[in-house]
Order: sequence, then structure tokens, then C-alpha cells
Amino acid sequence: MLRVKAPAKINLCLHVGERRSDGYHNLESLVAFADIGDELTFEDADRLSLNVEGPFASGLAGEADNLVLRAARGVMKIAGREIPKHITLTKNLPVASGMGGGSADAGATIRAFLLEWPRDEVKLSDFADLAGNLGADVPVCFFGQNAWMMGRGDEIFRCELPELHAVLVNPCISVSTRDVFAGLEMRTGIDAVERPDGFASAADLIEFLKSTKNDLETSAFALAPQILMALSALRARDGIRLARMSGSGATCFGLFDDAQRAQSAAEGLTSDHPNWWVKAAILAKASED
Ligand code: C5P
Repeated sequence: MLRVKAPAKINLCLHVGERRSDGYHNLESLVAFADIGDELTFEDADRLSLNVEGPFASGLAGEADNLVLRAARGVMKIAGREIPKHITLTKNLPVASGMGGGSADAGATIRAFLLEWPRDEVKLSDFADLAGNLGADVPVCFFGQNAWMMGRGDEIFRCELPELHAVLVNPCISVSTRDVFAGLEMRTGIDAVERPDGFASAADLIEFLKSTKNDLETSAFALAPQILMALSALRARDGIRLARMSGSGATCFGLFDDAQRAQSAAEGLTSDHPNWWVKAAILAKASED
């Protein structure tokens, strides 16, 4: 049995550029992966099947064509043969939450199939194209490393990031990415800031982030004012350095100097808002494998 992680994706900043002829917008986003996320297992089977479990499994009930299955079918099309697997997805992250969820699962699925592929047969560009066709966030999740994400999400440039101690907060509301983009008013545009390809320290990175934004915030606040409440609650915690929404929301992240401060902020937020999803996490942690 093969087990892979699908880490939460956090957009540390997200600038939106022009609307393109394909209907998408050009983006400029610094993406960091968290040490928490969904998990997938793959077992040999007679046919392709998917079982979803975990705390947020019910959020996917009725979604017959899960991105995981679409990713698996895409891989088989590239292979030109059936690779039947029984897949179990443990959904630990809230659904439609700005942390990549389904995109992270799809990216991890493609990676998992590749692990069992004979090296000399792999044409990576085929898989990158598949990722891009599944959704704008799938390529960076397939890449799985901290990166600048450009184009509609399909141009990925690795960026060395120091570890960040964060608290992730979702006010248990889901917002549609499409609707958030549709309500977009102000755009920073791309190339408005210099894009460093690395940072010397967490303090340097946070300083840089202060010169950036998430352009989708205002539109998301209008659709779901609870997001603003989550940000205000984060900003009220001791030791908070920066608080911002990730992706199209509703998850927000707060950055702290160390694990202890992040942990105590998470505990305070959990006790003040028992109905919210709150987790302390490390972003950009060096991978163990
Ligand atoms: O590709 P994905 O399904 O994640 O995108 C959802 C919607 O978000 C798109 O249909 C589009 O309206 C909007 N979007 C966009 N520009 C991007 C990414 C997403 O306009 N770069």
C-alpha cells in the first residue's frame, strides 16, 4: 500500500493581473505548504475506486467526479492502460477553503502514480499538462514545493522559504473561487513587486509579505463577512506578525515568531470560537523525504 500526503497550500500573497482570453486571470502568488493536510492511500485493486473518510468527508458527499478520480483517469490516459487502484482519501482539511484541498489531493494523486512509474518512461510535461487541466491550483500542488505561482497557476518557480509558525483559521464557511474572482474590484497586477527567489530569515519574509496583499480579500469579505471576523480575531492575538486570507478564502493564516506563541494563539482562538476550524501549523517546513 502506498501512502502520500496532500499538504495544505497557503498563498502567502496573491496578486491578480489581467483577465485572459481563456477566462482565467494572471496571478502572482507566493505559495507555502503546511505540515498538515489530507492523506491518500493507494492499493492494487480490480477497478478504480475511491473511499473518502476523515473529519471533512461529508463535505464531499455527492461529488461523484472527485478531482482525485479525474487525476487518476488522466494518468491512465497518459499511460494508455488501466492502472486499477482502490484509493482512500482522508479529508482532514475543510472543503473549498482556500488551502488547495481538492487540488492538493489531485496533485498528490499524480505524484503517487508517478512513484510507481519506470523512471525512463516518465515524460514530466505530460503530467504537468494534466495537472494544469484539472485546475489552476493543481500544478503547484503537483510540484509540492514552496514556489512562486504565475500565469493562471501553471507557471511555477521554486522559492526557498524559511519555516513560518502559523495558525490557520477557517470560520467554517465555504466560498466559491469563481464567485470571488467575479466580484474582484481592485487588482495589484503582476510584476508590481520584486519577486525574491529566497529569504534569509522568517523575519525577512514577513517584512516582504507586508509589502504584498491578497487581492481576493475584499471580494471574499463581501461574500462572507465571517472571514473578516476570523482575520480580526487573529490580529487580536499576542505576538501576531501578519494575518491574511489564503487563496479565495475562507481560511486565514496568522504568522507568529515561534511555535509556542502560535500554539497559545490557536488555543485562545479555539476557546473563543469553538465552531471554527483552528490549527497551529508550520509552513514551508523542509521536507523529510
Ligand atoms: O481552476 P479552478 O477550478 O480552480 O478555478 C475556479 C475559478 O476561479 C475559475 O473558473 C475562474 O473563474 C477563477 N480563476 C481565475 N483565474 C485563475 C484561477 C481561477 O479567474 N488564475
